[in-house]
Amino acid sequence: MTTKTERAKWGAAAHKDEVGKLPTPFPRAIGPNAERYLREVIESGLLCDMMGRFETAFAKELGVKHCVATPGCTPALATLAAAMPWEPGDEVIVSPITDYGTVQGLITQNFIPVFADTAPGTINFCAETIEPLITSRTRAILAVHKTGLVNDMDPINALARRHGLFVYEDACQAVFSEYKGRVAGTLASAAGFSFDSEKTMGSDVGGCLVTNDDELAERARFVGQSRGGVMRAHFGREHAVAGYAYRMPHCTAAICLAQLEIIRDQVAHRDRMVRLLSKKLAEIPGITPLPIPDYANVYSCWMFGLNIEPKAFRCSPEEFAAQLAAAGVPGAGLGEYYLMPAALTCLRDKSSAKTYPYSAPPASREYRYAGDDCPNAQEFLKTFVRWSTFCEKYQPEHCDLATQIVAEVADRNRA
Ligand SMILES: Cc1ncc(COP(=O)(O)O)c(C=O)c1O
Repeated sequence: MTTKTERAKWGAAAHKDEVGKLPTPFPRAIGPNAERYLREVIESGLLCDMMGRFETAFAKELGVKHCVATPGCTPALATLAAAMPWEPGDEVIVSPITDYGTVQGLITQNFIPVFADTAPGTINFCAETIEPLITSRTRAILAVHKTGLVNDMDPINALARRHGLFVYEDACQAVFSEYKGRVAGTLASAAGFSFDSEKTMGSDVGGCLVTNDDELAERARFVGQSRGGVMRAHFGREHAVAGYAYRMPHCTAAICLAQLEIIRDQVAHRDRMVRLLSKKLAEIPGITPLPIPDYANVYSCWMFGLNIEPKAFRCSPEEFAAQLAAAGVPGAGLGEYYLMPAALTCLRDKSSAKTYPYSAPPASREYRYAGDDCPNAQEFLKTFVRWSTFCEKYQPEHCDLATQIVAEVADRNRA
């Protein structure tokens, strides 16, 4: 089908043609038991409840009471939004550098995403940038652990407690990352994960939400996984809530289960490689790899990125990234589109026209959805060069090669 505008691609489709001198995630390494689990799904005549087995296994590995498996993280976070007792026009404070999947559920429930700025020089927000945005309409804080780097959650949770706010995590990019020895997804009241093909624990698609809250898990299963139907005597199915019917397919669950068996080793390896690569790149003048705070004691790094010091080079960050790509860094480019307040033109139109839910009940503020709503994040992304996805295939020699490529491009363009 041809369309007038170029449509964005996601998942494997966005990355499958990437080439370079460094490892690319595709073809993915798949856990050795995947074939056996897939066969079980078929040989059981679809009766082996692979989705339930994955939910139990993931919850156990993460150390949480409940895992509700969905076809992706977008539906997982949409399920959480739908399970909340909030009203249209209520606000959720969200990290500004993220993917659309973080906010899709908020938008469809007519909740209002409010973007807090990042902490200067980093990719995540913090308690200090969140606090000034809290109003009487704020209900929650949704923390995205961007690239897999965990947010500084203790001050965020303390702030939320003072204001009676719900805190949850978008842990899509941070599978088994750790914060002060606690694993991402267990750092607040609930979390969403993605097992999309390009993600750290990549299946064909897939995702889940996790929580220790029995009631929330029950509501999430009802409104998210089921069609919100209950049985009424002498009638049949009655739809008590507008359920989504978002269930993880059993074949996807079979692959996820096999991936779960190898993920911890892969994450430990990614963590070693990203620290090695960051250390080496930090020695190149004008190059600042994403800082890894001390509290991030495991960094499962889904995406690698670095900032370039514009004054140090004659070329623009965009040209620098293009030269990295030409020199063999797969998918090197700028990540400016991750600035969600600038990318959500659909909300900008609604909020400037003050149509529902920006109209009724009266909004607590003016919403602009512009990049300069979050000046730190905007400045940060202008010089942030990311190279496609990072992956477990990196070895020390790849870190050496990557350093050599970046050093060559840097020297070629030095001011
Ligand atoms: C931070 C973040 N949140 C949400 C999503 C959406 O996840 P999914 O593709 O599984 O729906 C993504 C995927 O790119 C993501 O990176």
